[in-house]
Amino acid sequence: MTTTTHRPTHTSPALDTQSLWQKDKDHFIHPFTDFSTFHEEGCDLITDSEGIYVQDSRGNRFIDGIAGLWCVNVGHGRAEIGQAMADQATRMAYFSTFNNLSNAPASELAAKLAELAPAHLNHVFYSCGGSTANDATIRLVHYYFNRLGKPDKKRILSRNNAYHGTTYLAASLTGIESNNWDFDTLDHLVTHLSEANCYRRPEGMSEVEYCDHLVKEFEDAIAEIGADNIAAFIAEPIMGAGGVLVAPEGYLKRMQAVCRANDILLIADEVVTAFGRLGHFFASEAVFDTQPDIINCAKGLSSGYAPLGATLISDELYEVLGTPQRKGGVLSTGFTYSGHPVSCAAALKNIEILERESICENVREVGPYLEERLKTLSHHATVGDVRGSHFMMCLENVADKATKDLLPVEARVGDRVAAEAQRRGLIIRPVGHLNIVSPPLIWTRDTVDQVIAILDEALAATTASLKEDGYL
Ligand SMILES: Cc1ncc(COP(=O)(O)O)c(C=O)c1O
Repeated sequence: MTTTTHRPTHTSPALDTQSLWQKDKDHFIHPFTDFSTFHEEGCDLITDSEGIYVQDSRGNRFIDGIAGLWCVNVGHGRAEIGQAMADQATRMAYFSTFNNLSNAPASELAAKLAELAPAHLNHVFYSCGGSTANDATIRLVHYYFNRLGKPDKKRILSRNNAYHGTTYLAASLTGIESNNWDFDTLDHLVTHLSEANCYRRPEGMSEVEYCDHLVKEFEDAIAEIGADNIAAFIAEPIMGAGGVLVAPEGYLKRMQAVCRANDILLIADEVVTAFGRLGHFFASEAVFDTQPDIINCAKGLSSGYAPLGATLISDELYEVLGTPQRKGGVLSTGFTYSGHPVSCAAALKNIEILERESICENVREVGPYLEERLKTLSHHATVGDVRGSHFMMCLENVADKATKDLLPVEARVGDRVAAEAQRRGLIIRPVGHLNIVSPPLIWTRDTVDQVIAILDEALAATTASLKEDGYL
């Protein structure tokens, strides 16, 4: 099946792929790697990319259905981002931002983020990615309450199946159980509430009742722990890696109201949802009508062209954080690479492209079409749910649609669908029994049509192979 109409035009200089494969296998500990296959199979080298396509070392090209890892929002191979980074690297690649030192891209970007974010979020603390943004945030939040004379306000409420990263603290905020198998977590700091999972809500409960139920669970947790011991509630506006879970209508706004009533800060982890994925630079206010005290972003901030994270902080918090705690004291937190000039230059150019090409508008136009077309795949035997919003979508595979029972883990249904799709020229992401579609934001309706044709075949092939192996 021909899936694409053009190849990436710029190819890499010849690579010694056999030698690279060996070096990688011998020395690179990959994040989130399945060692049951890695020691034998090693890696797949992705060598080239352009627009919505990536290409591997064997010359196979694929439509990128995951934007790298929910991050290459403006698409691959943007020479002008590369040029902006090169210009900055040759002019002044790095210098400290500690104390009162700064650099032009970091200053410029902070002001730009303040302009794009909800009106009260005017202050930016830079980190290196999503995990460090979340980690730094919790440290700042604890410091904030210490400064207010409320040192007991330490507990963070997160949710089951949330994903907030893998630094020690971010991993503790994360609520995906398998992510922490045999790792330790900082349980004294974090309490997990239920996730908002409309597909698997209790039998017989309407969405409205389900929302009431979740809000009540939050209120009950506060009553039990004590508002005086709780610093913040952290939530992804739409839960990403935990299964692209869209909460019931009004949920986030009601959770915010409970936060406000109890002097609990609301932290929106917009590492995935910001920079256009839901059709707006930030989703919290534009989509969910909430005004978090803090928004964290990364990924689409630089479209993955350089590592960067940012914590956007309200005027109210900054008033406290921005005052020395004692004579001679400084705000002693931050990273060597906070406000890295090359990363900030990449982010500035990325934002310029998002604005110039009206990419959020594209998402608002093509996103509903993607949703609608993906839903047409529901007739396949394994597709129990198709959910998400705009360019953040997910298929949930099940053994039985009526009972919603899952296939056994060893059936590896998510992997099967992803492999069948990849064979046909599309990369989507398997997460257990789920398949995530989170493309670059430049997909067109034509791309969506191609993708649906591939997925249709891939799901049919998966059903056939599951039947052959006795799982269906
Ligand atoms: C919502 C969310 N928060 C935080 C992170 C962690 O970001 P990073 O991998 O850049 O540390 C991720 C990564 O996928 C994420 O999806």
